[in-house]
Amino acid sequence: MKTLDPIVNEQVDALLTDEHNNVANLANASALLYDAFGDINWCGFYLLNNATGELDLGPFQGKVACMHIKPGSGVVGNCYQKETAIRVANVHEFPGHIACDSASNAELVTPLRVNGKIIGVLDIDSPDLDRFSAADEETVNEFAARLGKHLDTATVNALS
Ligand code: SME
Repeated sequence: MKTLDPIVNEQVDALLTDEHNNVANLANASALLYDAFGDINWCGFYLLNNATGELDLGPFQGKVACMHIKPGSGVVGNCYQKETAIRVANVHEFPGHIACDSASNAELVTPLRVNGKIIGVLDIDSPDLDRFSAADEETVNEFAARLGKHLDTATVNALS
């Protein structure tokens, strides 16, 4: 399996420095990561909707996906509730996994935080079993941390 090149973290900073539109920043971040990874079929964001308490679909690359996920549901909702990255080698063995695209077999999710507060989840899917390594998880955690610094606290959850 191809390991995600950590240079993507320098790239996200370069791309988003002095950019303040949350939708544009999340959209370009998903496009950057989608291209940098090999062998993935979906990459994008679920963002807390303050009005409903659900995680709503945000900017992404890939096929159409589930639009609302409750905290605690599926891989994404577990990541949000536990505030920790989750690396799933085989999604069919993950209790409660939500199958948006039947082609997906492995998944990597990590919290997206702004000023230390979790505001959503970065979600990456692959058709390949056991696609994601510990090194990929580390790079993606750093990617999300850097991305969070380019998001506007006041308005990020007003997106959904
Ligand atoms: N598989 C996720 C749902 C989101 S899609 O993969 C894009 C889950 O179980 O939460």
